[in-house]
Amino acid sequence: MADMSVNICGVDFKNPIIPASGAFGYGREYEELFPLNKLGGIATKGTTLHKRTGNLSPRIAETPAGMLNSVGLQNPGIDHFINVDLPYLLTKDVVILANIAGSTPEECAEAAAKLDDTEVHMIELNISCPNVRQGGAAFGTSCEMAAEVTKRVRAATKKPLIVKLSPNVTSIADIARSVEAAGADAVSLINTLLGMRIDINTGRPILRNNVGGLSGPAVFPVAVRMVWQTANAVKIPVIGMGGVSSGRDAVEMMMAGASAVQVGAALFTDPYAPVRIVEEMNEFLDSKGIASVCDIIGSVKPW
Ligand SMILES: Cc1cc2nc3c(=O)[nH]c(=O)nc-3n(C[C@H](O)[C@H](O)[C@H](O)COP(=O)(O)O)c2cc1C
Repeated sequence: MADMSVNICGVDFKNPIIPASGAFGYGREYEELFPLNKLGGIATKGTTLHKRTGNLSPRIAETPAGMLNSVGLQNPGIDHFINVDLPYLLTKDVVILANIAGSTPEECAEAAAKLDDTEVHMIELNISCPNVRQGGAAFGTSCEMAAEVTKRVRAATKKPLIVKLSPNVTSIADIARSVEAAGADAVSLINTLLGMRIDINTGRPILRNNVGGLSGPAVFPVAVRMVWQTANAVKIPVIGMGGVSSGRDAVEMMMAGASAVQVGAALFTDPYAPVRIVEEMNEFLDSKGIASVCDIIGSVKPW
């Protein structure tokens, strides 16, 4: 058996597979299926300073090889997370990445400051949500806004800070460089790609929010490309995600430069996906005689 452990920003993961934010809630439902300590880490549902009810239904639409969602950050708020969900998760012998979001840099910083007083292992700051002050443009779509929110959160916490990037940009490498310069310890990518479906009988968009985020196998090649470009642009670790549904996909993502891999939409067709992916990666590494999963990180040999 290959050594599956990885270390990101000084935090030890027993394997590189992490359920992605929004696809795993706060873990409770999945613990009925497998022990959570089989996972490398858990990225918790995006949590904001105050409770949010999310968008109106319908907020999920099927697409070929993927799904569109417009759940819209439904969550119980950071205090509930800290008082109820985090104490439960911290008993599970697995790295906890608290995913946070907000409508202003101050809101994000306040949520991070509250987490700073807890035992959470890492903070994952989602900068794909709309900035109310900038008329709804996502923080993650401009280098200046991405740097500003990163700086604010950096100043609010000593926890390892992962900034989660939006793929809805011209150059994800430029955004990654900006958040690295602003103090991010790592970046994770990709969040969902903006998409839309229309019911041609009613003429109405299928999602009540009109547009939503595309994820699942359809986005995999885009994600691999963006992880590769980002890993070549920054010195901090990159956590890859987007369409990963097999051990071979996870190996590919790591060869592109990811130090760990998150799994989102695949959980909805196979709730055991993260555990299966760890086993499949192990089989692949053994078949190639590779002793440690770290040996494949960034090992792609571009033409
Ligand atoms: C239903 C759903 C809810 C999501 N909620 C969040 C969230 O709250 N915060 C976040 O950073 N990303 C969220 N995401 C994005 C995923 O974490 C991930 O970045 C994206 O889906 C790409 O990975 P995948 O193709 O494996 O799903 C959500 C995705 C889905 C499908």
